[in-house]
Amino acid sequence: MVVGRNPEGVAAAARELGPAGRALAGDASDPATAPTAIQEGIRSFGGFHALYHVAGGSGRRMGDGPLHEITDEGWAGTLQLNLTSLFLSNRAAVRQFIAQGSGGAVLNMGSVLGFSPSPAHFSTHAYATTKAAIIGLTRSSAAYYAGRNIRFNVIAPALVATPMSRRAQEDEAILRFIATKQPLDGGRIGRPEDLDAAAVYLLSPGSRFVTGQVLAVDGGWSVSEGQHD
Ligand SMILES: NC(=O)c1ccc[n+]([C@@H]2O[C@H](COP(=O)([O-])OP(=O)(O)OC[C@H]3O[C@@H](n4cnc5c(N)ncnc54)[C@H](OP(=O)(O)O)[C@@H]3O)[C@@H](O)[C@H]2O)c1
Repeated sequence: MVVGRNPEGVAAAARELGPAGRALAGDASDPATAPTAIQEGIRSFGGFHALYHVAGGSGRRMGDGPLHEITDEGWAGTLQLNLTSLFLSNRAAVRQFIAQGSGGAVLNMGSVLGFSPSPAHFSTHAYATTKAAIIGLTRSSAAYYAGRNIRFNVIAPALVATPMSRRAQEDEAILRFIATKQPLDGGRIGRPEDLDAAAVYLLSPGSRFVTGQVLAVDGGWSVSEGQHD
């Protein structure tokens, strides 16, 4: 069961998944979206076991930036996009796990910028705030719900080639920086599929004894200095 905001993207996901999956259009910032998706998933597939919250993105266009430049709209919009949407899906998931009397897994999309800042090229401080807050919500929820076998973890990528990071991918200085900041596998930008195995692990029973963890899948970002021009 996948949920996305853009109807064309949702239709493409539905085509790719075929009868094995379902795709639903919905805005993750709407409190009704996650409960509806969960119930649809249960109707279609007979159960609910795990949530992977990915929805989020840059608030730069709304007015995010270095602290002294953040507009009121940029702050509020970035928190809504990255943090409120995640709170809503996590709350819906944990309510459902409690209602069905089962354990479950929640995996949240963080970012290395929540704990490993890089001021020269990546100074969006409302975004960093949301990604740090995601760790706080995840770890405190992990602690609180562990006795019910409901697990919460975070996956924290560095720079990955997606539409969100187009600005960075086209900037020669950033590419040179990334060669030393993400030195693994030749010093490159991440690919979405670099995260796949980690996500499957943290969502599956293979991680049944793991909760409250932040797994950086970052090409070495969080342990590297990176060389600027
Ligand atoms: N790219 C990176 O370098 C990077 C690094 C670290 C973390 N991340 C995180 O990874 C996640 C995905 O980012 P991305 O790079 O794939 O960005 P992206 O290319 O902009 O994609 C964001 C995705 O989230 C969906 N989305 C955004 N707001 C939504 C909402 N309110 N309701 C439903 N869906 C919504 C978008 O759907 P629509 O297309 O339908 O709008 C899109 O599919 C984000 O949480 C981001 O912070 C990205």
